[in-house]
Amino acid sequence: MIREDVFGYDLTLRNPAALDSWTATIQAFLAHGAATPVRLAETLEKAPDFALAHTAKSFFMMLLGRSELVQTAREAHAEATRLMGNGATARERAYLGTLTQYLGGDMHGAAASLDRLLTVWPRDSLAMKIGQSIKFVLGDGIGMRRSIEAIRDGFGADHPHLPYLKGCHAFALEETGDYLGAEALGRDAVLRAADDAWGVHAVAHVFDMTNRTREGVAWLSGQPETWAHCNNFRYHVWWHLALFHLDRGEHEEVLRLYDTEIRAEHTDDYRDISNGASLLSRLEIDGVDVGNRWEEMAQICESRTDDGCVVFADLHYMLALGGGDRNAEANALLTRMQADAAERNTSMKTVTAEAGLPAARGLMNFANGDYDGAFADLSAARPNMQSVGGSHAQRDVFERITIESALRAGRLDSARSLIDDRTRRRGSLDGYAERRLERIGDFQESKAAAR
Ligand SMILES: [Fe+2]
Repeated sequence: MIREDVFGYDLTLRNPAALDSWTATIQAFLAHGAATPVRLAETLEKAPDFALAHTAKSFFMMLLGRSELVQTAREAHAEATRLMGNGATARERAYLGTLTQYLGGDMHGAAASLDRLLTVWPRDSLAMKIGQSIKFVLGDGIGMRRSIEAIRDGFGADHPHLPYLKGCHAFALEETGDYLGAEALGRDAVLRAADDAWGVHAVAHVFDMTNRTREGVAWLSGQPETWAHCNNFRYHVWWHLALFHLDRGEHEEVLRLYDTEIRAEHTDDYRDISNGASLLSRLEIDGVDVGNRWEEMAQICESRTDDGCVVFADLHYMLALGGGDRNAEANALLTRMQADAAERNTSMKTVTAEAGLPAARGLMNFANGDYDGAFADLSAARPNMQSVGGSHAQRDVFERITIESALRAGRLDSARSLIDDRTRRRGSLDGYAERRLERIGDFQESKAAAR
């Protein structure tokens, strides 16, 4: 009954025929593969009494960040709990305990528990990747790096998932400012596993943060096959390619990518909405007319105001509602966030109180043309913005709107100091910052000439 999994650890699995499907599930999850739910369904069809697969299903549902999936996640957790009553390994019970924390709203606790699991079972790349995913939602780049560096010695050349560990390590290094190390590891990861979309993506982040836009375009447009197998993560990689073109002022190409890849399908996954809303906001800040592109996202976001699973999602829903002139729904979203902030009884509600609520208020003020108000609220949120999660590149849209608020409110010294701070943290002056500094310089010169 107890078998050995791909890591060499005991597994409570009765049907040996399900083992290949389970191994394929883990492999697909590590590669952000669209096949992940298919392989998991195959596993559960062959082994409906396999508790760890129900546990994984629950984690996967929670990571989608949608309130309507929480019930499915709870049911999978209940089934895993029932099945583990018939016997389970210590590792399987540790997974379940972590999941219980996650479902209870304690994402920091769940991430810490996964780290503890990995100290005992360091070759478990499923636990590694789930842990990285939770920490990503928490914006915990340092934690991501620490987790990987604690287990990398267990991932020798014999470990089948060594490339994916390297891809995760590359991304964690990038998020913590080690761009040289990140690029080397990310390139190595992709050479070892051509489907390591996270590794490809980590190197794209390096190019973004170090203003190597030409190399970024070449890196991504030269190997679209490395993320063609992905779930909706593939839209995010296209988004990165669009960011390089945006920084180069190639707006037609940005809009082409937007229409043909990034929002080719009008999906309601929060990460897809984030890509779309973030890109349209950046285009508008650069003075580009985006036509009626906000409308489809605003329509979708009308029904997401009560979701509350992920603060990062809330903020992008607010962008889309503002872009689509949905004042009533934007107010409803803000009211719900106020209630969450008052409760502060889960990880996400605490983040809402400390960063999400003032940021959302700032974004709403910006959409309404109150730039002084936007600047005040976004500046209040700014010291805690990392906690809203996502990557530096993703959160940069909030940084840009804060700077734009300062500029439009005539607070040129504040705008300059924000741009300088942003540049220091990125390690390079990009096209976006250069154009703003020129604008500030021109304005100050014309003011001096007028005097
Ligand atoms: Fe990214």
